[in-house]
Amino acid sequence: MTDPSPLWPARLHHIEITSDQPPVLLDFYRRLFECDAQELADGRWLLAGGERNIVVGRGARNGLGYSAFAMDDRARVAALRDFVTAQGIKIQPSPSPLFGEEAFAVSDRDGNILVFGTPLDGAPAKADRLPARLQHSVVGSPNMDDLIDFRLRLGFVLSDQVKDDDGNLTAAFLRSDREHHSQAMFHTRVPKFDHFSMETTSWNDIRDWADHLGGLRISLSWGPGRHGPGNNLFFMVCDADGNMVEFSAEMELMDRDTAVRQWKHEPHTLNLWGIAWMRD
Ligand SMILES: [Fe+2]
Repeated sequence: MTDPSPLWPARLHHIEITSDQPPVLLDFYRRLFECDAQELADGRWLLAGGERNIVVGRGARNGLGYSAFAMDDRARVAALRDFVTAQGIKIQPSPSPLFGEEAFAVSDRDGNILVFGTPLDGAPAKADRLPARLQHSVVGSPNMDDLIDFRLRLGFVLSDQVKDDDGNLTAAFLRSDREHHSQAMFHTRVPKFDHFSMETTSWNDIRDWADHLGGLRISLSWGPGRHGPGNNLFFMVCDADGNMVEFSAEMELMDRDTAVRQWKHEPHTLNLWGIAWMRD
């Protein structure tokens, strides 16, 4: 039996979103997250909050540049790098301005980049007025099996699968710590950035975020509802580029060795309370 991957536990720490209109997107997130945007040395921008950090880069609209996972010590990052290398997976330089020099990146079949590292010591982040911790990122893909297999080889653990009546996989959720998923994917005709999510501390936080959005005249795009896989309360909004942003609470916790579960492809699975966003 091979040793388990050193990945566990790892948490999503920051993501990069690419945009062809960065000033517009930055203005949206400044107001949404109540944080400042600072220009980085490489021409990208950092929206830095206490528990939510987003890098905005100039590029194609609706692009997920990378998803960066924080680990708790450099030795484990090095062990993960060795573990990944031993499987023949190509190591790439880390694109992250927030991780140390031990960080590295890998890329799946669709070109989705995952980064692993430890956060640099910086100035203490100011507390967020409204709590919401960046928690998962999700893509759409016509190559679901490849993307899942790649993440399993890295050390992610499959939590839930959704299949249609013909047995075709339509969604999958993977975890890298006890939270139900830190990565997920939906079957789509072309690869795409699906959404990212922030975990709040309670249902009341969901209310407070919705009130904050109401004050900004930003309408909810989906929800509130409760997902089947993950059992989390949620709603989603569209950002200025049309990317879906999720606010979540009560994400289910699972042990590392809990077996994968199966769900039927139907609206009820994606929203136990009713109307669902069915991807195509
Ligand atoms: Fe989500």
